[in-house]
Amino acid sequence: MTTTQKLETAIQHFHDNYDGYFKKFEEFIRIPSISADSKYNADIQKAANWLVDYLEELGMDAVKAYPTRKHPIVYGEYLKAGADKPTILIYGHYDVQPPDPMDEWKTTPFEPTIDGEFLVARGTSDMKGQILAGLYAIESLLAVDELNVNLKFIYEGEEEIGSPSIVDFIKENKELLKSDFALNLDAGMLGKDTPTIVYGLRGLAYFEIYVTGPDHDLHSGLFGGVVYNPAQALSELIAGMKDEKGHITLPGFYDSVRELSQDEREALARLKKDEAFYLKQTGAIALYGEAGYTEVERIGARPTLDVNGFKSGYIGEGPKTVIPSTAMAKISMRLVPDQTPDKVNEQLIQYMEENAPAQIKWEVKQLSSDPASIADRNTDAVKSFVKALKDTWGVEPIFHREGGSIPIVSHMKENLGIESVLSGFCLPGDLIHSPNEHIHVPTWKRGIEATIRFLYNLGQ
Ligand code: BES
Ligand code: MN
Repeated sequence: MTTTQKLETAIQHFHDNYDGYFKKFEEFIRIPSISADSKYNADIQKAANWLVDYLEELGMDAVKAYPTRKHPIVYGEYLKAGADKPTILIYGHYDVQPPDPMDEWKTTPFEPTIDGEFLVARGTSDMKGQILAGLYAIESLLAVDELNVNLKFIYEGEEEIGSPSIVDFIKENKELLKSDFALNLDAGMLGKDTPTIVYGLRGLAYFEIYVTGPDHDLHSGLFGGVVYNPAQALSELIAGMKDEKGHITLPGFYDSVRELSQDEREALARLKKDEAFYLKQTGAIALYGEAGYTEVERIGARPTLDVNGFKSGYIGEGPKTVIPSTAMAKISMRLVPDQTPDKVNEQLIQYMEENAPAQIKWEVKQLSSDPASIADRNTDAVKSFVKALKDTWGVEPIFHREGGSIPIVSHMKENLGIESVLSGFCLPGDLIHSPNEHIHVPTWKRGIEATIRFLYNLGQ
């Protein structure tokens, strides 16, 4: 067979065996591997074992689920291509977000349901479908011949809770994970006809702020007027974290923010992510954000601060006249180069010291936090992925800076010295993390074709 024939045969193999692949996808989806909730620990284990079994079935070597302090990391390798061929570290996360709020699902979250061109269920798009895109591409290539590239696989079960274990794992296993670059399909594309390479991701600094006023809940009539209500104090503190222009007021917050170059601003302006796009995606009646920057700049290249949750007082049915003793808010900031989570932690504490009223006690707790990442757009691996996308979609892919975070990307660069090729076949409307998550099946199938082309061409 000529090389073109081999490639076409592999793609044909995928299509000829599609029904089986689809069933296998549904099987993986049915495992509710929710990392945030320990009630699902057995399912997390089951999803890890499912991947171990599949890697073994594919003939991968050294396959193992490594225990961590929380959820296992699955490893496997294929090194038969030889030392003169590139080694790709394929990353994925098999955990998913909780399906909540349950009432808003039109179907059962972990029962994959076909709706026209979509497959609906938690984890379809983020990212079990993307993990399988990689594995199905490999299986299709192996059906034709041995591979011309070496592969290492690393699948974690903690990405959706901030990847607390994998950083130590890669630090302790540098030799095992030694590769030329990582392939990370956990990022998405801008539209079904717009294949995309993501070259920037934001970081994340996550905090809980606890405020205590009186040492127990009080009758709001007998005591209203003599104490500082902690819900009010925390609300005022949060309100003060942004000025009237939407700028974040934490001291020094923008000091290390890398400004956008004119070139990059022009390139971002060419993406069709304008006000209308975000109105449609969000369903909000109007947009809001930092003055002086366009929507696409605010998402990809500017830091933000958001309240993710607020808890205080009585929220059950009917009235209850009470001054709560405590209030708590979950606050996160999406970071951009060259901010660091530790610096932001100091800035938040300084803000609290300068602004918290004397009548309350407060405490800031830092949860998982990771810096932003920005990738080299000119590596051979990126060029090769660009070609594979172009050969599949028939159009030139675009380069994009996305607002979401994938904690491991910056750590792989720092500890393993490797760049990541970031792409994936998730669409902006897939409702990832929201009720009714789904994947656009035709796009996913094209993505698998593109991944077959990429892995094949890279070894030529
Ligand atoms: N796959 C997403 C991130 C993403 C989505 C990047 C689309 C680019 C395009 C990932 O699973 C995710 O949701 N990450 C979390 C990380 C956090 C919990 C540390 C995020 O961004 O909130
Ligand atoms: Mn996610």
